[in-house]
Amino acid sequence: MKTRSVPGPSASIAARQLAMIFHNPLDVYLALSARYGDAVRMPIGPKTSLFMLSRPAHAEHVLAANQDNYVKAFTYRPLRALIGDGLLTSEGERWRQHRKLVQPTFARRDVALFGPGMADAAQRMLKGWDDLADGTVLNVAARMSALALDIVGWTLFSADLSGEVAQMGRAMGAGQRVAMLATMLPLSYGPRSTKAVKLASRWVGHTPEGIEGPVGRLVADRRAGKTASAGGHPDLLDVLIGGRDQQGAELTDADIIGEAGTFMLAGHETTANTLAWSLALLSAFPAARVRLEDEVDSVLNGQLPAAADAPKLPWTTAVVAEAMRLYPPAWTIERDALADDDVAGVPVPAGSLVAVPPYLLHRHREFWPDPAGFDPARFLPGHQDRPRYAYIPFGGGKRACIGQSFAELETVLVLASIAQRYRLELTPAGIPKPTANVTLRPGRGLYMRLLRRT
Ligand code: HEM
Repeated sequence: MKTRSVPGPSASIAARQLAMIFHNPLDVYLALSARYGDAVRMPIGPKTSLFMLSRPAHAEHVLAANQDNYVKAFTYRPLRALIGDGLLTSEGERWRQHRKLVQPTFARRDVALFGPGMADAAQRMLKGWDDLADGTVLNVAARMSALALDIVGWTLFSADLSGEVAQMGRAMGAGQRVAMLATMLPLSYGPRSTKAVKLASRWVGHTPEGIEGPVGRLVADRRAGKTASAGGHPDLLDVLIGGRDQQGAELTDADIIGEAGTFMLAGHETTANTLAWSLALLSAFPAARVRLEDEVDSVLNGQLPAAADAPKLPWTTAVVAEAMRLYPPAWTIERDALADDDVAGVPVPAGSLVAVPPYLLHRHREFWPDPAGFDPARFLPGHQDRPRYAYIPFGGGKRACIGQSFAELETVLVLASIAQRYRLELTPAGIPKPTANVTLRPGRGLYMRLLRRT
């Protein structure tokens, strides 16, 4: 395949490109792929290029077929300063052992154990809504964020994290800004530089406390026997505290805090965004919403939703999948290439930054008819005739999202719980423009009017 290079490396053009990307990466990525095609090479330093690759075959090669040639990109490093070294950012033997330790907790069958915790949290949120007048305008993005954190808190840590919502938000915001900065200023924050990490630490240091504080307290309390898992089965904290490496050594407190912090942040920000975008789209496309309400009413028949109901809600499931196609929370996935490679016909030199952005793959005309349209039917059983790597909201290969089944159950249970009793309507401002930081968020919040279903 022919790789088209963005003009450069003239300093002024490069600076302008970087400024545009920092300002609005989504539109720039779309425009670059429309202009230069599926394989775009952009000089981002004297010897380094960013390869923006947007065909399923590219994603499959980088994430799965030749995954050993790729490590998490240097752009993930600021996250490490923010949440410690956890599964999302670690590599090698450390990553392998920790993934093996927590994998069983997130197996599809065992995730059903979290169903009651998810459904209870949704009901708690709805109970709070019962006191609000019909027509009250809510920031649904903030509400979904608080709910998703509540769910992660109770299901994985048996703890009430509602007091940490503000701090989590600040820490996440700081980390996202620095991660973006690190990507956009690769000359000074290049692959071998530790500047981005230092900057992230300093930035997070501006907030009263990073997230290690609250997470550290959870770990200390559990070790001291002051808390216990709540669900009648070991929670993630028990698994981490009881974990041993191959030599039989326990995980250190720093290890546990790194992993716990990773799950807290990775486990709530992404699902919260998915729920917010799903609700916005359902309001913008009333026929899809009516179909979802009919499905929920007939399957639940007035009962509260439970994990066993999720497989009986194919339209609700398809709505979530289509929302993640249009607004993938992890909008770009990036790797550093270790050795020279040929990525489905694209020559990629060692040391390159390689991006396989779900945002581009999910809108590729060749694989998605009417790519900008909202059509959940694409995800109904029997309608999924496309390459596996055309749709990668949860990534792929060995580093694929460990929380996929958790997220799929949570989003369906929460949407069904809301739809059973309430309808959320967009204000005249409509669907907000997405802001692309580490995750794809509704720009300045998502404001919707709360209406009771009669
Ligand atoms: C809609 C929700 C979610 C989306 C779209 C999502 C997306 C992703 C993606 C794309 C990756 C791979 C990143 C890469 O390859 O560089 C990932 C990894 C990860 N996700 Fe998720 N995620 C979601 C929910 C969750 C939940 C609920 C949890 C935990 C409860 C979680 C925990 C993780 C962890 C720990 C990793 C790192 C896995 C590893 O490298 O071994 N995620 N996620």
